[in-house]
Amino acid sequence: MCGIVGYFGKRNAAEILVDGLRRMEYRGYDSSGIACLKDGVIRVVKTPGKIKLLRDKVDASSDEALRTATVGIGHTRWATHGAPNEINAHPHTDSSGRFVMVHNGIIENYREIKNGLAQHGIACVSETDSEVLAQLIAYCYKDNLEKAVSEALQKVKGTYGIVVMTDHEPGKLVTARCGSPIVIGLGKDETIIASDAAAIIPHTRDAMYLEDYDMAVVTADGVRMFDLQHSPVNREVTAMDWDADAAEKGDFAHFMLKEMFEQPDAIRNAIRGRLDFEMGTAILSGLDFSPRDAAQISRVLIVGCGTSMNAGMVGEYAFEEMADLPAEVEQAAEFRYRNPIITPHDLVVAISQSGETADTLAAVREGKHKGAVVAGICNVVGSTIARETGRGVYLHAGPEIGVASTKAFTCQVAVMLMMAVKLARGRRMTRHHGQEICRWIERLPELVEQVLEQNDAIKAVAEKYAGTENAFFIGRGYLFPVAMEGALKLKEISYIHAEGYHAAELKHGPIALLQENTPIVALLNNIPGKEKTIGNAEECKARSAPVIAVVSEGDEGIAAEFDDMIVVPDCPPCIAPIPTTVALQLLAYHIAAARGCEIDQPRNLAKSVTVE
Ligand code: M6R
Repeated sequence: MCGIVGYFGKRNAAEILVDGLRRMEYRGYDSSGIACLKDGVIRVVKTPGKIKLLRDKVDASSDEALRTATVGIGHTRWATHGAPNEINAHPHTDSSGRFVMVHNGIIENYREIKNGLAQHGIACVSETDSEVLAQLIAYCYKDNLEKAVSEALQKVKGTYGIVVMTDHEPGKLVTARCGSPIVIGLGKDETIIASDAAAIIPHTRDAMYLEDYDMAVVTADGVRMFDLQHSPVNREVTAMDWDADAAEKGDFAHFMLKEMFEQPDAIRNAIRGRLDFEMGTAILSGLDFSPRDAAQISRVLIVGCGTSMNAGMVGEYAFEEMADLPAEVEQAAEFRYRNPIITPHDLVVAISQSGETADTLAAVREGKHKGAVVAGICNVVGSTIARETGRGVYLHAGPEIGVASTKAFTCQVAVMLMMAVKLARGRRMTRHHGQEICRWIERLPELVEQVLEQNDAIKAVAEKYAGTENAFFIGRGYLFPVAMEGALKLKEISYIHAEGYHAAELKHGPIALLQENTPIVALLNNIPGKEKTIGNAEECKARSAPVIAVVSEGDEGIAAEFDDMIVVPDCPPCIAPIPTTVALQLLAYHIAAARGCEIDQPRNLAKSVTVE
């Protein structure tokens, strides 16, 4: 959840650390800090609030060493233990101030370690689990930092991505990971350590990814890697393919707006070279199923969280409808803990934009442990889920910085449609049917462009509802998950209480909440069940609730009896979730903007949820 960065080189460390934290601010933004080492002395600057406040504090500092230090570490926090104040902000030092550490993850046995340290007269000053680890490393230190770090980490239960330094050994940074990502960027005469490629790509494309229980020591001589028992390990140097501009918002007011408008290109990238129009199938090189293998799969289990889970629900419909495969989607945390029945003929599909979501990763491990075929659908190349699944499909959507996931969702759905066609063609789908679906998938960027062209019209609708405090989204079939996703988008960025419901379910309870200030967004697209959903929307209208009707082009007449209308392209049911979701993303965005909300960094949220 938090962002961590370390710099070892010849340039101004503070400048690079603060810029790296700004680029990773979407990972957590309640407090931040840096520590630099200069002339054998550690300097720490921390502050609650956004990175801008940290930058102001560093700029205002009269400490010249902050401008000349060439080694340092930094952190942007998403609080787990303790309030977001300066004391709880990272970097954390030990009691002597001679060791300093940044940490991403959770030390589960921190109370036990804290009590043990107290018996040796070591008192922690913050409420965090992280400080305990900094104190423990200092306690374990004799004359070698990496030995102290590995000794301390062997006493720890939980997850960590850390970077540590000490003034005892000023020419060294030590980093380690277990469950929280660490990437090491190898520049010319410099090394940048980060929890996220975003902090590294402005400086270098060459990177190494630590695996769980790896440690690395960074010195002027380069990077040495080994495991916690000090046996050397080798990790490949790979080229990061994101361009630095892709992680900047340019002329757009928010990353979310930019990312919504990037969707036509993002989907083009996700489907490029993957549609075989001749055979009416998809070519997904990361899913090396022969038609024979495809025929062996008897069930698809889709796991994910949040928006990725909603995308998985669309996939559930597609796998069943197209490939005649029983499919189930499950919240990843529930899947990992409820001891699911899994057979070797099950295909577990883990969906995650970041590829780092703790519960989804744990579900992957559970699926593998029980012998299923496990595949990932990830956006971040080289992310933990992508690497651990070993097979799967990348989205190629480019970096998604806005905390509200947008282009990842539409690309995830596009990828699942291609997976469904591929599996279906190895089973019962005809070539002709496959060709037809491929042609519609190819048209997705154009359909999304049609929705984006209505930005102004959707904004006008949104502004009417900016004062709303409760809202419902209803849909059926392929549009039921879209209703869930529309409600999730609205609630997370506008703080309006919004619920996505199956249209038929509303009258089993929630209808009691309807009144004249509770708008209903009714997905009345031209798909099977439309007439019934229109009936459900009428039931809402009869209870004085205003209805925003989302209708297919050519069906505008339906909206006459409702309050507002959003028109989306008319397309087959399996295709409809993508343009319809884009319309709901715009609606949520403009409502949040009209309310003056912090769209890219909503309160309490973080982009990458690496804790359970
Ligand atoms: O990186 P992931 O796709 O695994 O993230 C899953 C959820 O945390 C994420 O989709 C979250 O729900 C977003 N804030 C939704 O916009």
